[in-house]
Amino acid sequence: MQSKTLLVLGGTRFLGRTVVEAALADGHRVTLFNRGRTAPGLFPGAETVLGDRESAADLAALAAGRQWDAVIDVAGYHPEVVGRSVAALAGRVGRYVFVSTLSVFADQATVQDEDGELLQLADDLPEHQQYGARKAACERIVREAFGERASIARPGMIVGPHDPTDRFAYWPRRFMRGGRVLLPGDPADAAQFIDVRDLARWLLDCVTRQRGGVHNVTGRTLPIGELFAACHELNPAAEPVWVPAERLLAAGADPWMGVPMWIADPDCAAINRVDVSRALAAGLSLRPLAETLADTLAWDTARGGPAPGAEGLDPAAEGKLLALLD
Ligand SMILES: NC(=O)c1ccc[n+]([C@@H]2O[C@H](COP(=O)([O-])OP(=O)(O)OC[C@H]3O[C@@H](n4cnc5c(N)ncnc54)[C@H](OP(=O)(O)O)[C@@H]3O)[C@@H](O)[C@H]2O)c1
Repeated sequence: MQSKTLLVLGGTRFLGRTVVEAALADGHRVTLFNRGRTAPGLFPGAETVLGDRESAADLAALAAGRQWDAVIDVAGYHPEVVGRSVAALAGRVGRYVFVSTLSVFADQATVQDEDGELLQLADDLPEHQQYGARKAACERIVREAFGERASIARPGMIVGPHDPTDRFAYWPRRFMRGGRVLLPGDPADAAQFIDVRDLARWLLDCVTRQRGGVHNVTGRTLPIGELFAACHELNPAAEPVWVPAERLLAAGADPWMGVPMWIADPDCAAINRVDVSRALAAGLSLRPLAETLADTLAWDTARGGPAPGAEGLDPAAEGKLLALLD
């Protein structure tokens, strides 16, 4: 494979970190641009330019006299901030790969392909409810500036080693602890997620294969029972206890963060049924679930489990819920 010069905006937390690891392993020459706060010194094999992407002056200093085959903008959230990097890098990068999100869709209750209607920014909504609309606005800025040379990836839930949330790692760890394991909803409920390494591969392939356009980039929909069955295989002595959604809600359980990956809101009924056929046809490759689980568990064990206050049910809360529901 031909070695490329890549600029990664971010690159040290989760997805960006995985992109940089894969890029270096592939022999690409990588420049990271970040503030040096998250995992400083993580990649001695890459050039790091320190700066704040919110600052037009820092971006101008980064770009002065430089050229890269592509920029991979992993963690751009605000249109005005992404607009600044687009302006600074126009004419300096051959391709702009932007990581968006499936949360851009206006309707999360109906199955969407890439052409679904997108959220619009709304002045009357609080900042934290504008994530999807802001990402949609960022997408527009990148596409307007780079046209065919824009690659927009819309991931769903990203899982795997170094995930700063505890939404996925909770499950293999929970099964390994054994005992009665509270499982939310119905085994036929949908789940959909992508291994961070498969997403990183997709992003790098956008550069090496010059793949532009917009793609929903997540895994295939699977019954959540399949995920839990694979977790159960890690420790067959654990005892799964399925609790229907309405009973869990009535008992005060908190969907999504309280009981990780459990989505009980009918307005979000299609969130785990997104159409990824365009990405699959364009070469998206997805590793087996067992590999994602094993590697996530190995990473989680090595780090000594999650930080206090992470998502998920602690043993006392789970025991209380199970006792209430018995
Ligand atoms: N997690 C999910 O399930 C999910 C789902 C859909 C989409 N996504 C998208 O996936 C992406 C995940 O990003 P990530 O956090 O894993 O990326 P990352 O590139 O691994 O980490 C974030 C990077 O941004 C840098 N950074 C933060 N603020 C900065 C600033 N003002 N100026 C310069 N650098 C700055 C951080 O370094 P410093 O702190 O040192 O500056 C860090 O290197 C996001 O775009 C998210 O919207 C995530």
